[in-house]
Amino acid sequence: MPAYTTPSDVESPLDREPRTAEGTRVQDDIAVIFDEASGYYRHLRWEKNPVVLLEKAQTHQVLVEELGSGPVGTALEIGCGPGTWTPLLADRAAQVVALDLSPKMLEQARAAVAAEHVSFLQGDAAHFDPGNAFDLVMSVRVLEYVPEWREIIARLERLVAPGGRAVVITKTPVSVWRGTGRSRWFGPRNLLQRLLRRETDPGFWQRHLPVHELTRAFAEAGMVDIRVRPVIIGLPIYVRGTKQYPIIPAFAERPALAATQAVSRWVAGRGRRGRRASLIFAESYAISGRRAAAPDHVAPRAAAS
Ligand SMILES: C[S@@+](CC[C@H](N)C(=O)[O-])C[C@H]1O[C@@H](n2cnc3c(N)ncnc32)[C@H](O)[C@@H]1O
Repeated sequence: MPAYTTPSDVESPLDREPRTAEGTRVQDDIAVIFDEASGYYRHLRWEKNPVVLLEKAQTHQVLVEELGSGPVGTALEIGCGPGTWTPLLADRAAQVVALDLSPKMLEQARAAVAAEHVSFLQGDAAHFDPGNAFDLVMSVRVLEYVPEWREIIARLERLVAPGGRAVVITKTPVSVWRGTGRSRWFGPRNLLQRLLRRETDPGFWQRHLPVHELTRAFAEAGMVDIRVRPVIIGLPIYVRGTKQYPIIPAFAERPALAATQAVSRWVAGRGRRGRRASLIFAESYAISGRRAAAPDHVAPRAAAS
């Protein structure tokens, strides 16, 4: 397997990189935040209660369907975090590269996915240019933290091998999930800030990427068969989610979750329009595409005429 590098200092002078209001590099701050979160992220986001377990199952289902069953030669995960989804690539590909900005997230991932054909690499995806292409490229809940997300998507043209696939999951920008937490909506100051569309936490770079912009970026990167679908779908009304949404009491949670799952399955079977319309109820969405395979041969003109 080739030695991968992330030549950020060589290819992109530090003074051209996105900065916070305090003058620090955005990605340095993001790395610190995820280093700090590495000890609890997986449990909090994906394991701690029936609500997040359902969200994990929904995300898993979408990834399985969008990645296909393999086997393939090589796969790349951008922002593997604690290795939540890396096994999906390890099961399909002979060689896997899992990249993340946060060294402590990578420690968790190495411990969770001990497989010789998986290499973990620390680096900023915005500058990751390995010089070779992969049959599968996957990124789950990462692009929303990367100011240079467009550059990463543009690079799919080189990162995805002909005939290969890219699957990206990110948070839905226009959704019943946005701003629904008690602490975010209530109180005149919060409400005013939201109505003025000001960031409530300016120290933490996070953007919810519009579906049409991401779709266009995929197309401009030469991806075809582009598909958009909801991932975590339902209503943010449960008591024990990752935030407090205290509308449904704990005793009513299980039947409500079962109903949510039924709706989610129903939506998955709808056509393109149905899936797009349901994005308003989705916390996150997936976009996938295929890089057209290089034609095996070009038919000679004489034979065609
Ligand atoms: C919300 S976590 C998601 C982790 C994992 N994909 C999952 O779904 O459980 C986001 C991850 O993206 C990583 N990340 C953020 N910006 C990155 C960048 N520019 N390059 C590589 N990884 C990045 C963070 O360190 C963190 O581990």
